[in-house]
Amino acid sequence: MRTYSFVNERYASAPGSPIRELKQFSELPGMISLAGGYPAPELMDAGGLQQIFSRFASAEFGRALEYGGTEGAMALRVELARLSSARDMAVEPADVLTLSGSQQGIDLLARTLLSPGERVLVEAPTYPAALSAFRFAGASIHQIATDDEGLVIDAFEAALLRLKPKLLYIVPSFGNPSGRTLGEARRRALLALAVRHRCLVVEDDPYGELYFDQAPPPSLYGLRQAVDGAERMVIYLSSLSKTLAPGLRLGWMLGPADVRRACVLAKQTDDMHASTLTQAAAAAYLKQGLFLEHLPQLRRAYAARAQALVRALREHLGERIRFTEPGGGMFVWARLPGVDSTQWLKSAIERRVMFVPGAAFFAQAPDPACFRLSFASQDEAGLALGVTRLAEALRSV
Ligand SMILES: Cc1ncc(COP(=O)(O)O)c(C=O)c1O
Repeated sequence: MRTYSFVNERYASAPGSPIRELKQFSELPGMISLAGGYPAPELMDAGGLQQIFSRFASAEFGRALEYGGTEGAMALRVELARLSSARDMAVEPADVLTLSGSQQGIDLLARTLLSPGERVLVEAPTYPAALSAFRFAGASIHQIATDDEGLVIDAFEAALLRLKPKLLYIVPSFGNPSGRTLGEARRRALLALAVRHRCLVVEDDPYGELYFDQAPPPSLYGLRQAVDGAERMVIYLSSLSKTLAPGLRLGWMLGPADVRRACVLAKQTDDMHASTLTQAAAAAYLKQGLFLEHLPQLRRAYAARAQALVRALREHLGERIRFTEPGGGMFVWARLPGVDSTQWLKSAIERRVMFVPGAAFFAQAPDPACFRLSFASQDEAGLALGVTRLAEALRSV
């Protein structure tokens, strides 16, 4: 007999996040995880943050433990506006909506913008937790082809004509999982098409600051001012998770005032506001210039790790594997023709190495030969050993 469940249909039948569910294996002794996009703790400026927390004067600490405004603490909004303006987006602090991580921004947008049955376009492959948020909102999700330079513009145009979607969700700089970056000409073409077809663009940018040699092209949000009619067509999300610390749970949203207002209302019934304590700490950290001081180190460390992973892949799987070498971010997206990456993962876990099979990153027609490797949380030696184990596991599939 089936036990009765009070859980509604949407949640009762939904799969969990494949990446979060793989986390249990990462705790096995000796496991080398190339799975999660988790920043390396040893590369975070834990010392700098610790000093900030310990320096809070007692009066300040009391205030930081109070409830706060839904839009976020002004001290942090000032710093996030400064950071955004330095990137190429001229914004005022009042234009910044502080989030409990950029994931919350995706969720708030899914709840406030989408009605059941409305169409959303995503890249193939894309970020699985965005797919889940759009699915929970009842949206109909359609994927657009990508190549080494990201979204294929002709395919985007064809989908706009055929599907009349409400929005496009895109990670244009060092994408998750693709590691790819959309070129400037494509960014401009994308915006012109979005205007022509009245398709809102949600630009998710948690990785743009983590470039190795060369900064990515201007953001879509920055470029919108150069494209006729695009002023109100782009929403920008970013995060302090990958560059500062994910445990702070801080991100931010820029976009048209009516969209931000709707998200504030949705946030009021969600978490009310991001943690006042971590907002105060992040504001002080940014204000003291520690963030910009630490970034170059982080970029160098991730660049070295990316190189180590690419080198090992070429050495051990070079004959068979296809991938785009990333210019930043945390991921290498790869394909091994003829291999079912879900089967391969099972034998990899036995050898104490793990990655994410590609299926979760597609809205339709998953390609079983694809998979995502993260170079963020292993040092160079760990990456080399991990790839040796992957190659061994592959021989037994
Ligand atoms: C593309 C993308 N968007 C959003 C997030 C969520 O980040 P957070 O909520 O920690 O800011 C992630 C995290 O992995 C991501 O890869």
